[in-house]
Amino acid sequence: MLVLASLYVVLYTGLCSAYVKQKGCNVYEGKWVYDESYPLFNSKKCPFIRKEFDCIKYGRSDDQYLKYRWQPNDCDLPRFDGVEFMRILKGKKVIFTGDSISLNQWQSLTCLLYTSSYGSNVTHEANESMSTVTFQDYGVSIAYFTSHYLVDIETEQFGRVLKLDSLKNGELWKQADVLIFNTWLWWYRRGIKQPGAEWNEPGVRNCSKETRPLTGSTYPTGVPLAAKVVKETLSSNISSSNSVHLLDITTLSQLRKDGHPSTSNGYKGMDCTHWCVAGVPDTWNHLLYAQLVQQQTELDPDYFSSDYM
Ligand SMILES: *[C@@H]1O[C@H](CO)[C@@H](O)[C@H](O)[C@H]1NC(C)=O
Ligand SMILES: *[C@@H]1O[C@H](CO)[C@@H](O)[C@H](O)[C@H]1NC(C)=O
Ligand SMILES: *[C@@H]1O[C@H](CO)[C@@H](O)[C@H](O)[C@H]1NC(C)=O
Ligand SMILES: *[C@@H]1O[C@H](CO)[C@@H](O)[C@H](O)[C@H]1NC(C)=O
Repeated sequence: MLVLASLYVVLYTGLCSAYVKQKGCNVYEGKWVYDESYPLFNSKKCPFIRKEFDCIKYGRSDDQYLKYRWQPNDCDLPRFDGVEFMRILKGKKVIFTGDSISLNQWQSLTCLLYTSSYGSNVTHEANESMSTVTFQDYGVSIAYFTSHYLVDIETEQFGRVLKLDSLKNGELWKQADVLIFNTWLWWYRRGIKQPGAEWNEPGVRNCSKETRPLTGSTYPTGVPLAAKVVKETLSSNISSSNSVHLLDITTLSQLRKDGHPSTSNGYKGMDCTHWCVAGVPDTWNHLLYAQLVQQQTELDPDYFSSDYM
């Protein structure tokens, strides 16, 4: 059954969970709430989890960081359903392109889908530029393409040149039906600052003792300038296009000072940049799912109405 009203779109997904989205609700504004039913999957059941994100295997013993759900202020997210995710994307290819944060999100999504479709045929291929997990029974591929800057770096006579107007890699990205870009810390010439001070925790220089998120909806030092620029450019230049959407996860991720591997990773170095999987990147993918569900409903208002009730 589908109910369409001017203020609310109510739709029912596979397991009859209701998704109530208030029009105009910004799902990126909200807070983290404790939810005993989390995490969305057990990282021990994901066979291709990489050692940089496998916090439990490499010694993280607290588990509260796994138990937070993102709660938007003005609406609820649809319950994450990996099989539904693959039904929506049947026959399609998703490419994550960017730095290791894209790898982090790719890892989370491949594990989420793997554990939701347990026992189905999943294949894994990789070459120097692309790593692809294919869910054969659903005809869905999830790929990761490494690109630190998105734009090209080329070697010229006098050295390496960052070419802001060159996107030769873009040829390969054209294979994608859904392309998810990210780039961030490689643009900081002196590297990213160690946090601590930003969390109002004097003397703290790394994330090793962090077991709780920041409370509230805003980060003490505000939204980083780079994120503001991206937002403004997208809204002023391509706002009319329905095919570009900003997964605006900067603030909600910054609040999760408890979500980093710290030294619980296969390299043992202090890592306060990436995120444990399972963990915060699952929410990035949950928001991606919410966006897909919304677009699918706009495309075909009957999509969720007939099949499985
Ligand atoms: C899984 O899918 C691949 C590609 O279609 C196929 O070659 C392989 O035989 C399948 N494996 C199983 C166990 O069905
Ligand atoms: C890597 O794999 C992708 C996807 O299968 C393919 O398009 C690309 O040409 C391959 N690159 C190399 C260097 O083999
Ligand atoms: C992390 O910070 C703690 C103090 O909060 C300190 O004792 C420890 O040496 C730091 N570790 C690294 C690798 O910086
Ligand atoms: C995008 O928007 C910015 C800010 O409004 C403007 O300065 C710029 O010229 C626009 N770029 C394009 C390609 O339209």
